[in-house]
Parts: sequence; structure tokens; C-alpha cells
Amino acid sequence: MKIAIMGAMPEEIEPLIAKLDNVTTTVYAANKYYEGTYKGKEVVVAYSKIGKVFATLTATMLIEKFGCDILLFSGVAGAISDELKIGDLIIADGLCQHDLDITAFGHPFGYVPEGEVCIPTDVGLRNIAKEIAASKGIELKEGVIATGDQFIANPEKKEWIGEVFKAHALEMEGASVAVVCNALNVPFFILRAISDAADMDASFNFDAFLESSAKISADFILSMVEHIQED
Ligand code: ADE
Repeated sequence: MKIAIMGAMPEEIEPLIAKLDNVTTTVYAANKYYEGTYKGKEVVVAYSKIGKVFATLTATMLIEKFGCDILLFSGVAGAISDELKIGDLIIADGLCQHDLDITAFGHPFGYVPEGEVCIPTDVGLRNIAKEIAASKGIELKEGVIATGDQFIANPEKKEWIGEVFKAHALEMEGASVAVVCNALNVPFFILRAISDAADMDASFNFDAFLESSAKISADFILSMVEHIQED
């Protein structure tokens, strides 16, 4: 089994690459892919660059070009829920696109015909994450994560996303990964550590906590890789 591990920014994958053995790199479609092993398991790691379009490209390449069987996403997010503090981990039970809007035609926000507003993540991978968290005494929140091509630093906008999509956190890539993996029947998992609260201080806090929160997420993802059973 080959496991894809994807981030959006270099800071999100650097802690992963540092722990791999036998690393080789390939440049494909203007992006760098790191193939290697972690505790004997085959992995391919890449960061997509920020946003839905680049994330769609990278997720597709990891599956179609590199032959990955499952995809794990590691990175940071802005908190919507007041319960989520900087450094806390959240796993997505589903992903939606908060900036997808054809409401002019009577559709709900986030919906396009033949699509779904919220795409669920793989239950088996979520259960593995919960078992690891319980065994290590790590608190893991679970909820909807909303994705859009906007860095949110506005309390009203964040509340709107929270209300409309019942979302607990927001970021800029997860729903793209969900669309690709759902279409290609690849089990996927989205983990985020909180870097900011998507409020007036968001850009300052993002810069301050990107690295530390990305490392919290990456460390957890590596323990997931360790526990995923080869078939
Ligand atoms: N990722 C981390 N923080 C974010 C924010 N405030 N908006 C969008 N994506 C983010």
C-alpha cells in the first residue's frame, strides 16, 4: 500500500520529510514529490501550494501519477468553534466549499448539481486517529471543515461560514482533496492543527503559529502511518 501525505505549504510537510528514509524526489506538473518510507511503509509526500486549484492538481497527481492508495492531509486551519484553541487538532468528518455559490439558481451554498455540499471522510481512518489519540491522551476534535479560496480574518465572515455549513474550522484545500478522492474512490483523511481564530488577529497568529501547529499535525499523521495496516 502506498500512502500519500499532502500539505499545502512547505512548513506543513517539512516535519514529515525530515522523518522519512530512502527519499527520492521527482518534479512533475511543476511540483516536487518526495517518495520514501516511514517505518517501512511506502509514502509519497508533497505540498500543493495554497488554495483549491493547486490542491486539486496535487491530490490528482498523488493518486493518478504516483499510484497512492490512500491520502492523508496534514496542515493548519483557522478555528470557527470557540472550543478550538491554537495548537488543537481537528479531524474533518466532512468537507464543504464555503465560497461555492450558485444560490441565484435556488441551490444551497456550497452545492453544484451532481455534487454534494459536504463530502464525508473515510470512517476507518478517522477511527484509527481516534484510537491513537485515546492511547496518547491527545484531545482530537471532529467536525465539518469548510474550504475556500480566501484567508479569513473577519469575525462576521467566520460566523457566517460556521452557521451556514455547521463548520468547526476553515482552511483553503481540504474540500478539493475530498472532491478528488471521492471521485477516484480513494479513502482520505484531513487533519488540521489550529493556527489562528480567523479573526482580526488571524494573519499575525498564522505567521506566529504556522510552524508549531504544522508540526503538531505532522507528528500525529506519522503515528497514523505507523498504525495503518498494510493489506
Ligand atoms: N488556514 C489557517 N488559517 C486560516 C484562515 N484564517 N483562513 C483560511 N485558511 C486558513
